[in-house]
Amino acid sequence: MAATLARTESPSATRTAISINDVSVRFGEGRTELTALSGVSLDIPEGGFVTMLGPSGCGKSTLLRAIADLVQISDGNIAVLGRTPREAREARDFAFVFQDATLLPWRNTLDNVRLPIEVGKHAGADYEDPLKLLKMVGLEGRENALPHELSGGMRQRVAIARALVTRPRILLMDEPFGALDEITRDNLNQELLRIWQETGTTIVFVTHSIPEAAFLGQHVLMLKAHPGRVKEFMKVELPAERTLTMRDTVDFIKVTAHLRAMLEECL
Ligand SMILES: Nc1ncnc2c1ncn2[C@@H]1O[C@H](COP(=O)(O)OP(=O)(O)OP(=O)(O)O)[C@@H](O)[C@H]1O
Ligand SMILES: [Mg+2]
Repeated sequence: MAATLARTESPSATRTAISINDVSVRFGEGRTELTALSGVSLDIPEGGFVTMLGPSGCGKSTLLRAIADLVQISDGNIAVLGRTPREAREARDFAFVFQDATLLPWRNTLDNVRLPIEVGKHAGADYEDPLKLLKMVGLEGRENALPHELSGGMRQRVAIARALVTRPRILLMDEPFGALDEITRDNLNQELLRIWQETGTTIVFVTHSIPEAAFLGQHVLMLKAHPGRVKEFMKVELPAERTLTMRDTVDFIKVTAHLRAMLEECL
């Protein structure tokens, strides 16, 4: 039986976790200037799960990085739980999970998950128990394994556990399962949904997979390119509870067919 993590404050679906208002991001200057994002506006509800789709180069990573204060916006405004991205980063309101698990190779599983506690120790900080997290992501008993002794899917689980150790209210994930085989990806998708439901964390998740976007997302944000803009921000009309067998239903296929048509219009 998996460990559960109860949140002290219950998330409200009506509150906004991330508010993005008329955001543009430009890189470079003069003749080399490139507009990666232009006039992007949307509100991500607290406790929501938003998946982001769009052609390569349309600005998905840039938008995620702007929310995380890893990229400076040129115009507009982003509020993360009512704060600036910088304030939110300093308050550790969010954690980032990259495509590559980026674990420290000389540290075992448990010590990798513990890393944010050691790096950011400050008075009064409230951390999740790393052992409990490892249990939650199905890695109980692998505390002493080094990253090279784990499969790619296991390493991503460690990265997710590490991201959750600071109890972030928001999880930003950039193609975290992109390099994994389909079965492992299916398992991790289910695991992630369970974690999302147990913790009430707001999740923004970039993917290139239409079925993954539809399966995970309560909303799908579709971006189009040159410059990156919002093509569509749609509610996924499926029950909030998702099961893998649901992917064979007519309703699911309708959602993916719609997303495929939208994506084709973006190319
Ligand atoms: N630091 C940077 N400096 C200059 N240009 C950048 C930088 N980061 C991104 N870009 C450009 O901004 C645009 C959007 O890039 P971004 O990485 O956000 O796309 P993406 O949608 O995540 O693509 P992919 O699906 O391939 O990951 C691209 O044209 C890219 O070359
Ligand atoms: Mg990207």
